[in-house]
Amino acid sequence: MANAVPLSSITPVSDKRLLRALSGQAVDRPPFWFMRQAGRYLPEYRELRQRSKDFMSFCYSPSLAAEATVQPIRRFGMDAAIIFSDILVIPDALGQRVNFESGHGPMLDALTGESQIAGLTLSRLRTRLGPIYDALALTHTKLDLDTALIGFAGAPWTIACYMIEGSGSATFSKAKAWIYRSPERMTMLFDILVEAIADHLIAQVEAGAEVLQLFDSWAGVLPEREFERWSIEPTMRIVGRVKSVHPHVPIIGFPNRCGATIGQYARITAVDAVQLDSGTPIGWARTQVPAKVAIQGNLDPQLLVVGGPAMLNEADRIVRIMSGQPFVFNLGHGIVPETPPENVSQLSALLRGERPA
Ligand code: CP3
Repeated sequence: MANAVPLSSITPVSDKRLLRALSGQAVDRPPFWFMRQAGRYLPEYRELRQRSKDFMSFCYSPSLAAEATVQPIRRFGMDAAIIFSDILVIPDALGQRVNFESGHGPMLDALTGESQIAGLTLSRLRTRLGPIYDALALTHTKLDLDTALIGFAGAPWTIACYMIEGSGSATFSKAKAWIYRSPERMTMLFDILVEAIADHLIAQVEAGAEVLQLFDSWAGVLPEREFERWSIEPTMRIVGRVKSVHPHVPIIGFPNRCGATIGQYARITAVDAVQLDSGTPIGWARTQVPAKVAIQGNLDPQLLVVGGPAMLNEADRIVRIMSGQPFVFNLGHGIVPETPPENVSQLSALLRGERPA
């Protein structure tokens, strides 16, 4: 036998554009997908959503979640599908019930102290999140060979924000009070979250996810030293744990609105790519982030609402700036419900290099 190379030393190669771009290989054009590409702006999602009484049950229904995942792929042919789920399945699986009330966003019984942290349990995690793994396996059977499947989780800081505040907030001042007044208590919570999130990501890979993304949506409210402690450090631990089990699965980190600390985040966490919000100049970010770390982003989602030349010119500018660099086209944040699907269609055609009809 001539080829006695141990299998474990070979980096798996794939023809999927997203995987090629994330591993620094050449691509014919940048891969693209859009944050929150499934959801309310799509009439077929609104129709499907009626089959479930509440949002969490929808997320925990493998057939509904798999269908919502592939809906945008059928319409627009993105290079990746992101599993339809939510970052708040983690507190739910730890035993802090989560409800989505229409018009109010997420509602949780806010954590107030150590006794409630002690009440959280990791033992039910894989059982409770089992339907998400079933949804990933089912989605895999529905995707063609060119489309990558992304699994995801919230980062500990962002999940902790909702667990402590009990809902959305502009400032997350209660969660911030915890880090300033009782960092030991926050550390107790973070130890549980790091373990739960790493385990959930590992289980998603085992169910068929080929790429992982960590959303730290509220990273931007943290000053530099707190950002290091509560965003960079726990993300580094999660990346380390996942990579110790699945070294070849690329991980994209999204420290939303972290500003000038993006380079430090990329270097220390050891993520394979960073998503960039719309407020950070992408050419500047390229100079901050290590050359082998891909950048994903950063079109303003409001341009997808407006459409036309404003959207197409800006998309074209971003693609030109990033030409020859490891890059994944995406938005600076999620698609908003007011987005006309025709605009998503036009943008997708531009990114595929098709001439406008
Ligand atoms: O295509 C996709 O990306 C869909 C999968 C997805 C959802 N949420 C579905 C969803 C993903 C990746 C998320 C991530 C998520 N969820 C984040 C991180 C990204 C970000 O937006 O910063 C956060 C902070 C959440 C928490 C969350 N979920 C909020 C604050 C809300 C209410 C506000 C809103 O955007 O509607 C949700 C609900 C939610 N999650 C919906 C969807 C499609 C809308 C509810 C519905 O359709 O009934």
